[in-house]
Amino acid sequence: MSGLAKLLINVAAVILLTVSVQADTLANCTYEDIRGTWVFELGPSHKEGSKDWECTSTTQISVQYKVKITLDYPDIAIDEFGNKGFWTLIYNQGFEVVVGGSKYFGFSVFKDKTVSICSKANPGWAHDVLGHDRRCFQGQKQSPAVKFMKKTGRDSSLRFEPSINSEEMVASINKAQKSWTATTYPQFQGLTHDDFVRMAGGKRSRMLSRPRSVPITEKQDSVRGTLPSSFDWRKVNGQNYVSPVRNQAACGSCYAFASMAMAESRLQILTNNTQKHVFAPQDIVECSPYSQGCDGGFPYLIGGKYAEDFGLVEEKCNPYKGHDGKCSTESSCARNYVTDYKYIGGYYGACNEVAMMEAIYNRGPVAVGFMVYGDFMSYKSGVYHHVFENHPFEPFELTNHAVLVVGWGEVTSPSPDRYWIVKNSWGTGWGMDGYFWIRRGSDECGIESMAVEATPIFRFN
Ligand SMILES: *[C@@H]1O[C@H](CO)[C@@H](O)[C@H](O)[C@H]1NC(C)=O
Ligand SMILES: *[C@@H]1O[C@H](CO)[C@@H](O)[C@H](O)[C@H]1NC(C)=O
Repeated sequence: MSGLAKLLINVAAVILLTVSVQADTLANCTYEDIRGTWVFELGPSHKEGSKDWECTSTTQISVQYKVKITLDYPDIAIDEFGNKGFWTLIYNQGFEVVVGGSKYFGFSVFKDKTVSICSKANPGWAHDVLGHDRRCFQGQKQSPAVKFMKKTGRDSSLRFEPSINSEEMVASINKAQKSWTATTYPQFQGLTHDDFVRMAGGKRSRMLSRPRSVPITEKQDSVRGTLPSSFDWRKVNGQNYVSPVRNQAACGSCYAFASMAMAESRLQILTNNTQKHVFAPQDIVECSPYSQGCDGGFPYLIGGKYAEDFGLVEEKCNPYKGHDGKCSTESSCARNYVTDYKYIGGYYGACNEVAMMEAIYNRGPVAVGFMVYGDFMSYKSGVYHHVFENHPFEPFELTNHAVLVVGWGEVTSPSPDRYWIVKNSWGTGWGMDGYFWIRRGSDECGIESMAVEATPIFRFN
């Protein structure tokens, strides 16, 4: 057994001992469940910079103000005074609203492990658009009514799936098609099914439903004509604007790595490569109220919202451990903020290939989520597309893995194909030095359905 395999097994063993058992299911609220008129009840303002701005499902709110806000198609929010703003669904987990100079974010209510109550938002976080006047709020939908209780399917229990990383599976993938090559990885030997699930997103970031990429408009078609046929932020005028590949190990922290990687790369771009940061995913795993540690999370809430509200710290302020724990970030460390975070296309459900290309080319790499099937684990090189439909290798549970798209390209053989160039967080020993290519233009595994971007604010240091 290699040293790395031993290390991974040790990491896995530590995780099994330290992760508290969490509910295995998630809220599953759709656009139509959330769209409508809401009343938000706001609690008292928290002192600027105080640590007590914690809003959780158990927070008791002593209501000081109520605001009525209508969330309308496709992303319009209107408050009771008629001010217009913006809203977006956040995956199927909750929603964010920006109207009348204030910003609200709450997770939808989820009870007894199987019931989503989409007409209610748990106590969530409210502040003005400059980040001041921080309060907790709770939301109650008034109309149209949604079914009070909505059962989500119970997750199938996690199974050990011996075919992942097997010679047999790899041979079968390589025989079935020629556009990508599979291999077995010694560092994956001995990993359990749960370890694979964490590597590929974590059980709490599993998507029960997801949007499709939207059709390309005529205007976008002409934008495509202005963009190069291949582009790679690792090689722009001889400069590399992408930070080194890292390894999340068997912790469902991909969303944190993808978010840090986006901020790191975009800071390099904004400063002509004079500021090369490595930010701390462990700060997210331990300290973020907007995600679930090693059980998963989403780039919109971390690379976007957490980075805007709380800021990111350097790796040395909380070196990566790959397991959950109490927040231990060095408190004297400077925080690095972002702004203008959004789903590409403007809101959840408005993304497509050209919108992503435009964002990558003009502003830098974007964080995406895509569905990981068992075959993806074996990827070595070439243009990945999911191979097996209804195949015995399929039973790996679908997870939502977050990664960073840094560019795109085209191949002519074995057949013409377009692809994205994507940075993974499974170390440099996986794929092509830690990177993979995946088919572009057909929403392969949902990779064009929910890309996220944010603009870092650089400090003069
Ligand atoms: C989540 O909700 C969608 C839309 O209502 C539904 O199609 C899907 O089956 C639900 N998923 C589960 C696991 O309940
Ligand atoms: C950016 O950095 C490159 C390489 O160091 C340098 O040649 C170039 O002049 C810089 N550009 C600006 C605008 O400073």
